[in-house]
Amino acid sequence: MCGIIGCIGEAAAQPFLIEGLGRLEYRGYDSAGVAIWNGKDIETRKTVGRVSRLAATLNDSPIDGDTGISHTRWATHGAVTEQNAHPHFDDSGRLALVHNGVLENHKALRDGLIERGHNFVSQTDTEVLAHLIGETFDISPVQNREALVAAVKSALGQALGTYGIGLLHADTGRFLIAARKGSPLIVGFGDGGQFLSSDVDAIADWVNEVVYLEDGDIAALDGDHFEVHRVSGEEAATPAPVRVEAPPVREGKGRYAHFMHKEIHEQPETLREAMKGRFDREGATATFSGLQRTNEELREWHRIVLTGCGTTYHAALAGESLIEAMARIPVECEYASEFRYRNVPLDSRTAVFAMSQSGETADTIAALRESKRKGAPTLGICNNVISTIARESEGGIGLRAGLEIGVAATKTFTSQVVALSMLGLLLGRIRDLPHAEGMDIIRGLESLPELVARVLELDEEISHIAAKYVSARNFLFMGRQANFPIALEGALKMKEISYIPASGYPSAELKHGVIALVNDETPSIFLAPQDGVYEKNLSNIEEVKARKGPVIAVGTEGDETLASLCDDVILLPQVPDFLAPVLNVIPLQLFAYHTAVALGCDVDKPKNLAKSVTVE
Ligand code: F6R
Repeated sequence: MCGIIGCIGEAAAQPFLIEGLGRLEYRGYDSAGVAIWNGKDIETRKTVGRVSRLAATLNDSPIDGDTGISHTRWATHGAVTEQNAHPHFDDSGRLALVHNGVLENHKALRDGLIERGHNFVSQTDTEVLAHLIGETFDISPVQNREALVAAVKSALGQALGTYGIGLLHADTGRFLIAARKGSPLIVGFGDGGQFLSSDVDAIADWVNEVVYLEDGDIAALDGDHFEVHRVSGEEAATPAPVRVEAPPVREGKGRYAHFMHKEIHEQPETLREAMKGRFDREGATATFSGLQRTNEELREWHRIVLTGCGTTYHAALAGESLIEAMARIPVECEYASEFRYRNVPLDSRTAVFAMSQSGETADTIAALRESKRKGAPTLGICNNVISTIARESEGGIGLRAGLEIGVAATKTFTSQVVALSMLGLLLGRIRDLPHAEGMDIIRGLESLPELVARVLELDEEISHIAAKYVSARNFLFMGRQANFPIALEGALKMKEISYIPASGYPSAELKHGVIALVNDETPSIFLAPQDGVYEKNLSNIEEVKARKGPVIAVGTEGDETLASLCDDVILLPQVPDFLAPVLNVIPLQLFAYHTAVALGCDVDKPKNLAKSVTVE
């Protein structure tokens, strides 16, 4: 993961580096560092913790210089310490390097370097690259910019794995090198200078044009010029820059204490946006111009694969039953992290949807590329529509949920489920879903924002219920059918922000093992709306109660049976089954949120996590 910002400015580099890093903190926030060329040497500052700590250090002890690189880290190799924070240096201390990615052969390279007399100060894979480049550069007869590019080429030619790197050398002064393979890296051009960044948004305020580096590119920048070389040594044409869209509006937390809480409450609006202009009432269907497929082409699909990670995978699971019910087309969900190692059977009539909020999840990008290689039509479902997945897929659906800053995904989950419901409607209507049923689905989906707003009114009530269970050391989440993925998602939310172990199961699986965990200290949260499996859920609740397990149920308004059976109930409006997953996840998001707040956890930046997982 990790975020990289580099800058050759017209003015001081430090403010750009710090502000840009702050915007990249979603990629990791365990430590941060900068290296700036002060006109003679390279000065560095590193701190463990958030970018704000690095900013405070630089405030007390600024570095003067217009050329620099910086990094915010999510540890892969080596503990979270100042030594392991980037930038890393070669033995001369004159070459500084930042890296995003994982070098798979770092051990062999490190052993060779140690044998040749190099001294390592960190446990990172990154430091290997700094030494390797420095070694070749130092023995070059002329130590100029060309020699530095050649040294980078030679070192990267030996590196296996993924990298996005930024590098500067005191002997080549106002000069930056960037290279990528597998990890994103962008070069930007603006009035204030030239920039490097892991994403466009971080530098969008300062640049008019950008170049998305390709795998195997090495870019050289000197403040005026920009050229591209290839690690392979082949000739490379300098790519034409593309214009940058206005950056997404960065709003504050408003009246909320945390972005996560604000984003939960934004859901009526984000769902409205996800659906806006996408219903065709005459045809009783949904339309997505971004899919770039005619109905004839869509009818060719005989199978759909949805792939994604984490919360996004749970949205895929919820979408699986929705699409199958509406379109009668087989849907399979694959963890993107398993996809390329599983040899998933694919063909030209199996559409693969790579789903990702960020559009930059390394595993999902790999799944997309693997699907392309196997000749499947590849589509993206992304919130960030200028991301790698959005660019590399043949078409797709934008979620339009706006920036999601809380690390725990909330509003993008419900937008993903709604997007998949609309996809189910579209595919159903070109197969055998009747017009009247299509209209019922449209009316149902259109009623969702208002229903979600009603559920959000239960916020305070849910915070009181959460307060009763904060001392729990384990939670079980249960649901059936399309509510099973919601149980998984409720458990994930609880784990990631409150650090309380929690697991999600199909309710009927209880007696196949999980019931062993039930006792008077382990609360079970049941999703038990009055649907076709309501009675079955009631039996499962009885089984838990018989073993003294506390039960919190999410049910339907007016359900007195549930209220009398359970310790606590959260009652939601009655809705058709296909809307239940979106509605039912809201109380679980709020329950996890209030539990984490009560425990004093850092809700928006939970430990060990990052918003965008850009390493395998
Ligand atoms: C959990 C969470 C993660 C992401 C996962 C995929 O709250 O946010 O589990 O859902 O890392 O991220 P995207 O959707 O950006 O590919």
